[in-house]
Amino acid sequence: MQTEPQNGNRNVPLNILVFSASLRKDSFNTQLAKLARTLIEKNGAKVDFASMSEFDCPSMNQDSEKNNGYPKGAEEFRKRMLANDAFIISSPEYNGSMPGLIKNAIDWVSRFRPQPFNERHALLMSASPSMGGGNKALWSLRMPLEHLGARVFPDMFSLATAHKAFTQEGKIADETLAKRFEDNVVAFMNLVEAAKHYPCIKKAWVEFLGEKPDPVTERVE
Ligand SMILES: Cc1cc2nc3c(=O)[nH]c(=O)nc-3n(C[C@H](O)[C@H](O)[C@H](O)COP(=O)(O)O)c2cc1C
Repeated sequence: MQTEPQNGNRNVPLNILVFSASLRKDSFNTQLAKLARTLIEKNGAKVDFASMSEFDCPSMNQDSEKNNGYPKGAEEFRKRMLANDAFIISSPEYNGSMPGLIKNAIDWVSRFRPQPFNERHALLMSASPSMGGGNKALWSLRMPLEHLGARVFPDMFSLATAHKAFTQEGKIADETLAKRFEDNVVAFMNLVEAAKHYPCIKKAWVEFLGEKPDPVTERVE
């Protein structure tokens, strides 16, 4: 059993891309993403905080892809994915699903080779004024991300009644919920850290998924 990190120094901090999939100025999801940033930094990692406006793309059109290449938003999204160890999306729920703009951006980025979502760790969260907290958006968001090979963290966090859930300082007012949120973020960070510094965990992860840890059978695209 390996006891020392095989992939660089364990003390090198993690880099995590965090963004909200809302373009709205007073977005609750942006508030939640900012809170995730604060907690990640408090727990020793670096955050690359992005705005959805940087990743927004015109509607996917294969003719446009063929004739004009990738839109700027897709280039930027891909660049920031590759520059970080993991990503966190805080997404609104629109009509029981994810907003079209985030699916559209994922569709564009999925066209790059190598395909940037493959083997990247992801944590999903949502906020909504509703009682469901936008949780259905996250189940729908898992689908394309997992299809693309992203390692989507099992626990997801949804903040219900978001219009009255935050304190003036931007924290979650309910103490139990605030602790649950931090625990969720820290558990995700622990997994990403293990995957970054202990490549043996990859074998364990693949075995957990029921696949043979064989380079030939590993998903490449
Ligand atoms: C087109 C549309 C559909 C919506 N559908 C839902 C929904 O299915 N479930 C829900 O909880 N909220 C729904 N909402 C309300 C959003 O949760 C709310 O507007 C929220 O503030 C959006 O996230 P944001 O504050 O981060 O922009 C919808 C809003 C819009 C604009």
